[in-house]
Amino acid sequence: MRSDANIAGPMTDPVPGPRTESPGEDVSRETPPPMDDTPIGRAAQLAVEALGRAGEGLPRPEQTRVMVVANQKGGVGKTTTTVNLAASLALHGGRVLVIDLDPQGNASTALGIDHHAEVPSIYDVLVDSKPLSDVVQPVPDVEGLFCAPATIDLAGAEIELVSLVARESRLERAIEAYEQPLDYILIDCPPSLGLLTVNALVAGAEVLIPIQCEYYALEGLGQLLRNVDLVRGHLNPKLHVSTILLTMYDGRTRLASQVADEVRSHFGGEVLRTSIPRSVRISEAPSYGQTVLTYDPGSSGALSYLEAAREIALRGVGVHYEAQHAHALPELSQHDQHSSMQEGIQ
Ligand SMILES: Nc1ncnc2c1ncn2[C@@H]1O[C@H](COP(=O)(O)OP(=O)(O)OP(=O)(O)O)[C@@H](O)[C@H]1O
Ligand SMILES: [Mg+2]
Repeated sequence: MRSDANIAGPMTDPVPGPRTESPGEDVSRETPPPMDDTPIGRAAQLAVEALGRAGEGLPRPEQTRVMVVANQKGGVGKTTTTVNLAASLALHGGRVLVIDLDPQGNASTALGIDHHAEVPSIYDVLVDSKPLSDVVQPVPDVEGLFCAPATIDLAGAEIELVSLVARESRLERAIEAYEQPLDYILIDCPPSLGLLTVNALVAGAEVLIPIQCEYYALEGLGQLLRNVDLVRGHLNPKLHVSTILLTMYDGRTRLASQVADEVRSHFGGEVLRTSIPRSVRISEAPSYGQTVLTYDPGSSGALSYLEAAREIALRGVGVHYEAQHAHALPELSQHDQHSSMQEGIQ
């Protein structure tokens, strides 16, 4: 029996304290025997179990929250964060659309969405004014999750957009005309600050910046922040950096905790207390066309993304977030949080 309905599950929360993946440990051996014959059914079962250990439900936003996942630095976890947060929010019962705005199409791949050249895609929306509803596809394994895929055509869009009317606001217009009810739209940006990213910044209200816990983590962020300021000043007054997420956090290294401290002292309250650990399961999932939520729902990576989603959902409605697991780091004092937001960022 395929149990998509169960995947969405009740709007419940993840567990306190995900198990950690120690090197060489086969995490999935710890998972209980499957109760379903299909791979998706098994994944669903595991997802429900992971969610089932939780307690309260999650509030849904009053209006659709459009979050732009951006950082022009490559490989910091933008796509991984987009797809896994989106799946987590959908598993919490929300209706979520992922817009893949990167010609690489990695978010489409990770969500198991076909994106070969002939598939109607976000390119058609941006360049040919096709309605967004014509390109959105349901994500096979997760109820309530949808994807507007990117094809390789999008690589030419940066150039083609230049000569088009309202070139910076074409995505915004497409989203405004999309009539399906949604709780969240997450936009996965390419690692650049070109017209595609500008379209995302004009379309969204919130910027979510994933920062990889490594040396030079903050390098180049100043340019992104200046672009956010420019877009806010000229095209989109509601735009703000709402969320910073530390990714690939390795608690065993001093470097990771130093970077985390530095990011917290620059950004303070915007940094989620939940950080995402470096996890083999997270990096394996896309090659199966899955998010880590269905690939290994009990892994530390899956539970961290569920927890980050909980934190984002609670912040969105102004509810105080209480950390439930080990990946949430202690909060800084008010003074530390806002004293040096811009200092030291180049
Ligand atoms: N928490 C994690 N643990 C282990 N590997 C991770 C984690 N997050 C991301 N990765 C891996 O790091 C690589 C880069 O991640 P991802 O593709 O999400 O970055 P990106 O910022 O979208 O990259 P790009 O700038 O190319 O679009 C991928 O191989 C991904 O599987
Ligand atoms: Mg990416």
